[in-house]
Amino acid sequence: MRFENKVAIITGAGSGIGRETALMFAKERAKVVVADINEKSGRETVTEIKKAGDEGLFVKVDISNKEQSKQMVMDTLGNYGRIDVLINNGGIIQDAFVSKMTEEQWDRVININLKGAFNCIQAVVDVMVNQGGGVIINTSSIVGLYGNIGQVNYAAAKAGLIGMTKTLAKELGRKGIRVNAVAPGFIVTPMTSNVPEKILEAMKEKTPLRRLGQTKDVAYAYLYLASDEANFVNGAVLSVDGGLVI
Ligand SMILES: NC(=O)c1ccc[n+]([C@@H]2O[C@H](COP(=O)([O-])OP(=O)(O)OC[C@H]3O[C@@H](n4cnc5c(N)ncnc54)[C@H](O)[C@@H]3O)[C@@H](O)[C@H]2O)c1
Repeated sequence: MRFENKVAIITGAGSGIGRETALMFAKERAKVVVADINEKSGRETVTEIKKAGDEGLFVKVDISNKEQSKQMVMDTLGNYGRIDVLINNGGIIQDAFVSKMTEEQWDRVININLKGAFNCIQAVVDVMVNQGGGVIINTSSIVGLYGNIGQVNYAAAKAGLIGMTKTLAKELGRKGIRVNAVAPGFIVTPMTSNVPEKILEAMKEKTPLRRLGQTKDVAYAYLYLASDEANFVNGAVLSVDGGLVI
């Protein structure tokens, strides 16, 4: 059991990759905080965790809001007394070509995907320092590394997370906190459910492993990076994309 007596906050754990991760970490004995803006789906994740006999707690949070992010950390401490892992997985897309993108679309995606991670990190960092260490994982994307048409806001946010990861790996490493990022390729989740079949087929064709990613593929990457097995891994960006861009 990799996370016996450990506490993990997973943002966006009401759906997709986050839900899979929450279930997986709970199976490894973590006390999992399912942090999500969507109360219904977040509570469903906790119900699944408990049905499996594991430990989890739902906390409603809008990560783009600094005060709510702080409250999420307070609620976690109030219930479990410590925080060992923070996975900044919560995110959204609002796609448009650059000439058509509204200021609101830009702001929403930056505020949730990029500032949201910053808010959660800032809220948790002193707790981890005082405990003598911790692990932070940021969810970037293949789009943050290579760009994608129609996603200038999302690509900027996901590239920003890589800069943030490397900076904080340097800044916090000496305090025992490891900071890494995961860059998923195309993963089958509600976020990607509107993509037309033709594009999905083309994506498979382009991927050396000839398949799309599953939520487990990313959850296992988080699991590794959060575990003691990755004790010397810091400031890395782990691509989980089936080799799509090589
Ligand atoms: N699916 C993919 O192909 C893919 C690829 C690369 C990166 N990612 C990233 O992986 C992460 C998970 O994506 P997914 O595909 O599982 O998406 P998803 O839409 O299934 O889940 C995202 C979760 O984030 C939550 N969320 C949204 N805004 C929030 C906010 N303001 N505060 C708190 N929670 C909020 C949603 O309620 C939802 O539960 C995201 O950061 C996404 O950008 C996904």
